[in-house]
Amino acid sequence: MSRRVVVLGSVNTDLVLRCSQMPLPGQTVHGRDFQTLPGGKGANQAVAAARLGASVSFIGCVGDDAFGHNARRILAAEGMDTQHLHSISGASTGVAMILVDDAAQNCIVLDAGANAALSIAQVDAAKATIQDAGLLICQLECPLPAVQHGIALAHAAGVPVLLNPAPTQALPPELLAQVDVLVPNETEAAALLQLAPGAAFDATAAADRLRTLGPPTVIITLGAHGVQLACDGSNVHLEAPVVQAVDTTGAGDTFIGAYAAAWCGGASMTAAIAYAQQAAAISVTRAGAQAAMPRSSELPLKVSGRP
Ligand code: RIB
Repeated sequence: MSRRVVVLGSVNTDLVLRCSQMPLPGQTVHGRDFQTLPGGKGANQAVAAARLGASVSFIGCVGDDAFGHNARRILAAEGMDTQHLHSISGASTGVAMILVDDAAQNCIVLDAGANAALSIAQVDAAKATIQDAGLLICQLECPLPAVQHGIALAHAAGVPVLLNPAPTQALPPELLAQVDVLVPNETEAAALLQLAPGAAFDATAAADRLRTLGPPTVIITLGAHGVQLACDGSNVHLEAPVVQAVDTTGAGDTFIGAYAAAWCGGASMTAAIAYAQQAAAISVTRAGAQAAMPRSSELPLKVSGRP
């Protein structure tokens, strides 16, 4: 079985400002520590996996601009296969405007830019790469038809699919039926279940209900409150390590990339989750998304093989 992680997803440049408090509509507040950093949920998840020892192939699009050239250089420097990373002339690389407050929470506004150009034909050109994967990871910052095609190719080839349904959007039932591991956060889980805004969120019930939509395994990430794992008739809550967070941007991406690296490295699902929780906990103690992701030498847990 292939151990390669294939990520079909977005590449962004993150324009990050810290502020004491998020501004209200119509309000101007002072910010500080402006940074231009590599990001995008797809690229972040790919970098997290590669940095923790996985072999990674990336499928996506950047603009033919300075941000795009920089992103390509960074992904290649992380040791990834970028033969299916397309440069789109006339498009700008995706951009995320990110505010991080003193409670380490963030708000993000995206301009998809070149990510919006990822086509079914480009995904189809990566068919052999997808069919040879140990795990395909997708998110929803690229056009849904392209994502859906990648998932269908993987599913038809018996390659497990992990979907991070972010940013949230309505998904066709046939897509969810082809997902093996669904990894939403609380907001995304509530949206997929069409819960009323502000309704109380019961992670155990939500994980069970999400499984009825198709994915046999559901992992709801709950930030500092850990994760809810539902699979094979069990539904358990797993606590997160306690750390002092300074920036939670990309913590979910670190979790997913680390999970993929561990699982494709031979760990059981629960061991891979424990490993991913350690990686995510380290990432929130540092600023930025990719900038904060750990290497395996920093993780107390090591990947152990599946029985
Ligand atoms: O998940 C964090 C990421 O979301 C950021 O890096 C930003 O680019 C957005 O895609």
